[in-house]
This record gives sequence, C-alpha cells and structure tokens, in this order.
Amino acid sequence: MKPIFPKWMNALPTILFFVVNGGVVLAIAGFWYYATPKFWEVGYMPTQPGSGFNHQIHAGKLGIDCRYCHTHVEESWHANVPAVSTCMGCHAENKINVDVASATDEKVQFIRDAYEQDVAIEWRNIHVVPDYATFPHNAHVNAGVSCFSCHGQIQGMPVVVQQESLSMGWCLDCHRNPEENLVPKDKVTDLYWVQTQWFNKIALDENNEIIKDMHGNVVLDSVSTSDRQHNGLTPDQLVDTLKRNPPQHCAACHY
Ligand code: HEC
Ligand code: HEC
Ligand code: HEC
Ligand code: HEC
Ligand code: HEC
Repeated sequence: MKPIFPKWMNALPTILFFVVNGGVVLAIAGFWYYATPKFWEVGYMPTQPGSGFNHQIHAGKLGIDCRYCHTHVEESWHANVPAVSTCMGCHAENKINVDVASATDEKVQFIRDAYEQDVAIEWRNIHVVPDYATFPHNAHVNAGVSCFSCHGQIQGMPVVVQQESLSMGWCLDCHRNPEENLVPKDKVTDLYWVQTQWFNKIALDENNEIIKDMHGNVVLDSVSTSDRQHNGLTPDQLVDTLKRNPPQHCAACHY
C-alpha cells in the first residue's frame, strides 16, 4: 500500500528547522546590520591628536567663522579640515598677540611641532557616508541648509560629537521636507542664531521679513527687487517657489 505521505516528507522537520532558524538568523543579522551601526555612530567622538581642537573656544567664544577653517564647504563635494598653517596664523611662537601664544603654550605645542616637521595633524574623521552613496556637501550648504541641521550645535562643543545617524532614512526625511531646514544663505554658519532665532523662536511663516529676504537671496537672485515686488505672486506662492527640490530617486544618491 502506498504511504499517504511521500518519503521525502520525513525530511520536512529538518527542512523546516533550517528554514525557520535561517529566518531567525537573517532577522538578527538584519537587525544587527540596520540598527546597530547607527546606534553606535551617533555620539561617535574619537580621541583627537595633541590637546585636540575645541570648537566651543574657537567657533563659539572667539566667534571664528566655520569657513575660516573649513574653506571648501561652499565649493567642494567634500568638506575639509584646516591645514596646520591655518592654526599657526594664531598659534606660532612669534605671534604678537602674546595672550594667545603664552596662555596656551603647552597645549598648542603639538601644532608647532607638526608645523616644524612639516607633517599634517592626523585629525580623526567623525562623519562618514559610505562610498556607495553620493553626498555633495557644497550643494547643501549653498541651498541654505545650516551646518546646525546636520552637525548639531558645533559652536557649543568642546569636542565634536556626531549628532545625526547619517542613514538613508535621515537623508530622505529632509529631502521630503526640505523647507523646514532652510535658513537664509548668509546665516548657514551662524549656528547660535539658527538654533535660537530661526528654529526655536521664528515660526516658518510667509509674512516673516527674513523669509522674504531669504527668498530674494536664495532663489530669485537673478530677478531684480522691483520685478519680484510686481510679479503678482501671493505670499503662499512666494514661499512655494522657495521650496528646494532635493532628489528622492535612487540614482541621485547611488550610481
Ligand atoms: C579655527 C579652526 C576651525 C573653526 C573656526 C571651525 N572648525 Fe570645525 N574643525 C576644525 C578642526 C581642526 C577639526 C578636526 C578636529 C575635530 O574634529 O575636532 C574640525 C572638525 C569639524 C567637524 C567634524 C569633522 C568630521 O571629521 O566629521 C565638523 C562637523 C566641524 N568641524 C564643523 C564646524 C562648524 C559648523 C564650524 C563653525 C560653527 C567650525 N567647524 C569651525 C577646525 C575649525
Ligand atoms: C584666529 C585665531 C586662532 C586660530 C586660527 C586658531 N586658534 Fe587656537 N586658540 C586661539 C585663542 C585666542 C586661544 C585661547 C582661548 C582661550 O584661552 O580662551 C586658543 C586656544 C587653543 C588651544 C588651547 C585650548 C584649551 O583647551 O585651553 C588649542 C589646543 C588650540 N587653540 C588649537 C588650535 C588648532 C589645532 C587650530 C587650527 C585648527 C587653532 N587653534 C586655530 C586662537 C586661534
Ligand atoms: C545636509 C547635511 C550637512 C550640512 C548642511 C553640512 N554638513 Fe558637513 N558633513 C555632512 C556629512 C554627511 C558629512 C560626511 C561626508 C562624507 O563622508 O563624504 C560631512 C562632513 C563634514 C566635515 C568632515 C570633512 C573631513 O574631511 O573630514 C566637516 C569639517 C564638515 N562636514 C563641516 C561642515 C560645515 C562647516 C558646515 C556648514 C557650513 C556643514 N558641514 C554643513 C553633512 C552636512
Ligand atoms: C537637512 C536637510 C538635508 C539632509 C539631511 C540631506 N539633504 Fe541632500 N539636499 C537637501 C537640499 C535642500 C538639497 C538642494 C536641493 C536643490 O537645490 O534643489 C539637497 C540636494 C541633494 C543632492 C542633489 C545635489 C544637486 O547638485 O542637485 C544629493 C545627491 C543629496 N542632496 C544627497 C544627500 C544625501 C546622500 C544625504 C544624506 C547623507 C542628504 N542629501 C541629506 C537637503 C538635505
Ligand atoms: C538622498 C540620498 C539617497 C537616496 C535618494 C537613496 N539612497 Fe539608498 N542610501 C543612502 C545613504 C546615505 C546610504 C548609506 C546609509 C548608511 O550609512 O547606512 C544608503 C544605503 C542604501 C542601501 C544599503 C542598505 C542600508 O540601508 O544601509 C541600499 C540597499 C540602498 N541605499 C538602496 C536605495 C534604493 C533602492 C533607493 C531608491 C528607492 C535609494 N537607496 C535612494 C542615500 C540615498
């Protein structure tokens, strides 16, 4: 008599075991892959060479503009950290400003040593987007996205800490809703202003003078002021034209 179940069915429990377990393994691997790296990267804060570099002192207290050191942020796909010579402009031994030279002599010796030996200070890189994704740094700064939106309140950081996940979801969240993140172009590096005046106090409202100014500077800079006043757009439409249109299709960031 023929058995009800074919013979290979005997192996079914074993197959099921592997399939189910394989699924569990995949789920764990997936979780590990998607969740864990991001979890660790936010807050990433490597130890820097020498006495390190303090943004709170330089960009906050002394108010040095980001672009004094990060000179390529408006021109290049990649941001840059400054060369030793930029630091030496203030920290060379013979600086007339004795306050700077003497008050911090010991702490800045590593800068002078590097300069003397003609070697670069090996700053550890913090923010990294993987090679298979395209991130044009300058396009963002020039569109009026403040450093604050992606790097946090750097002017208040003694040591730079990664604040955002830099994940694909993070990119797309902003690309779907860019207008909330746009500030007047001349304010992108004024992080305290952006945080307190723009994001916290001033609601994004089309009657706001700064928005109109931003509109003029950022989007319609080829159109004269009188043209803009007479072009018959309602405030809503004005704000609409202000909207940037960041890409959301795969090929924009992966190719
Ligand atoms: C006097 C020079 C100087 C100024 C001014 C300055 N920075 Fe920096 N910045 C550095 C140096 C040096 C490093 C590398 C060491 C470190 O990470 O702390 C750096 C690192 C960074 C990093 C981390 C880069 C990475 O590896 O991911 C960010 C982000 C950054 N700066 C943003 C800013 C912003 C925003 C401003 C303006 C508010 C600013 N910086 C002003 C010198 C400067
Ligand atoms: C425009 C001038 C200027 C430039 C450029 C500059 N510094 Fe300074 N730096 C200062 C001044 C002023 C102080 C002292 C501030 C204080 O004590 O409040 C200081 C302090 C320091 C200290 C001691 C900070 C501490 O923890 O007490 C270090 C380290 C330092 N700078 C590193 C650097 C490095 C590295 C660079 C280049 C990436 C650099 N500086 C570029 C002006 C400058
Ligand atoms: C739209 C988000 C965004 C904005 C706005 C932005 N950054 Fe970045 N920044 C990034 C990302 C993402 C990276 C890592 C890029 C990579 O790995 O190619 C980065 C990298 C950097 C680095 C590291 C460069 C290096 O060689 O290690 C510095 C410095 C920096 N940014 C400074 C700034 C400054 C200053 C501003 C404002 C003028 C700014 N960023 C605005 C997202 C942003
Ligand atoms: C806080 C907002 C914000 C974040 C975060 C952000 N972007 Fe953008 N992105 C923009 C804006 C605004 C533009 C400019 C759109 C325009 O000019 O029409 C843009 C443009 C781009 C462009 C097209 C540039 C060009 O020349 O047309 C690419 C590619 C891009 N972003 C990739 C990324 C990637 C990758 C990430 C994440 C690592 C990211 N962006 C995160 C706001 C953001
Ligand atoms: C705005 C830029 C942007 C767009 C648009 C985009 N990606 Fe990504 N994608 C990224 C970034 C940045 C990463 C790296 C995230 C990380 O560090 O894990 C990434 C990672 C990935 C990964 C690796 C797995 C992961 O999540 O880490 C895959 C697969 C992927 N993207 C597929 C796609 C597909 C398919 C599309 C179109 C539906 C798309 N991406 C559109 C920026 C983008």
